[in-house]
Amino acid sequence: MTSTPQHLPDRSSVDAGDGSVTDAVQAPVLDVDNLTKSYPGEPPVQALRGVNLAIGEGELVGIVGPSGSGKTTLLQLMGTLDRPTSGHVRIGGLDVASMADDDVAYLRATRIGFVFQQFFLAEHATVLDNVADGLLYAGVPLEQRRQRAIDALELVGLAQRRHARPTQLSGGQRQRVAIARALVGQPAVVLADEPTGNLDQATGQSILALIDRLHRTGSTIVVITHDHAIAERMSRKVEILDGQIVADTGPDTGADARRRSPAPLARPAIHAPQAAYGGPVNHEPS
Ligand SMILES: Nc1ncnc2c1ncn2[C@@H]1O[C@H](COP(=O)(O)OP(=O)(O)O)[C@@H](O)[C@H]1O
Ligand SMILES: [Mg+2]
Repeated sequence: MTSTPQHLPDRSSVDAGDGSVTDAVQAPVLDVDNLTKSYPGEPPVQALRGVNLAIGEGELVGIVGPSGSGKTTLLQLMGTLDRPTSGHVRIGGLDVASMADDDVAYLRATRIGFVFQQFFLAEHATVLDNVADGLLYAGVPLEQRRQRAIDALELVGLAQRRHARPTQLSGGQRQRVAIARALVGQPAVVLADEPTGNLDQATGQSILALIDRLHRTGSTIVVITHDHAIAERMSRKVEILDGQIVADTGPDTGADARRRSPAPLARPAIHAPQAAYGGPVNHEPS
């Protein structure tokens, strides 16, 4: 069991990783700096070749590129699911490279939501518990997890299906559940890898409309896609080719951001619950 995390910030200031102190509120929610990734092989695969990208609070960013261009690799590094070969990933100004694995896992669990093409729902668990489990590592008690899960399911229009199992739902509904699970912890950023890739055209459009709506109500979302038509819908479009960013329409700080209404789920103060920290909390009987 580890002690209280050393690297998690209070709300006022954090170490940017280079010795400087930066304002946590003004730091990008996520930024990567000179990121490279090579996978071993003969010869090694240079999946990323020096990527720089900063995602600001409230942005909706589409990262678009052809198959093999490095999109999933970039998402995995941004989401701290893998470590870069070189370069830096910062979440809310915190440099992941300087953190122990346990601290990174806690940061990931509390600040980042994931949505995948394949949904990755637990088929034996109810919709409600699939979403509530998104809060396991944040140390939230079971009853509160379930209440917050209902709130998140309301956002995606599926609260009334909370007792169903994923196998009883359509693909579009499953992806809505996955989106609710990603949102339930009110992460700083949601990373979605080809979220409509397993859906028919009409269902995909409804998921994109949901993503639009979540963005307008304050969520910060990065959508990775091979489909330019999808990326065009995002307020910021970043193009990746052969492991490098080749175009970026730039941060969305303008009218879109001002039009947004307050976030539907109030973002809680960030703290590290010591009981849960460093390992899974007890699973109460359900
Ligand atoms: N685990 C891995 N081991 C070896 N090569 C990999 C691995 N993951 C991805 N690659 C290679 O890295 C490159 C980028 O892959 P990926 O990030 O999955 O691209 P995209 O998501 O844009 O299709 C590709 O050439 C791919 O074959
Ligand atoms: Mg991919």
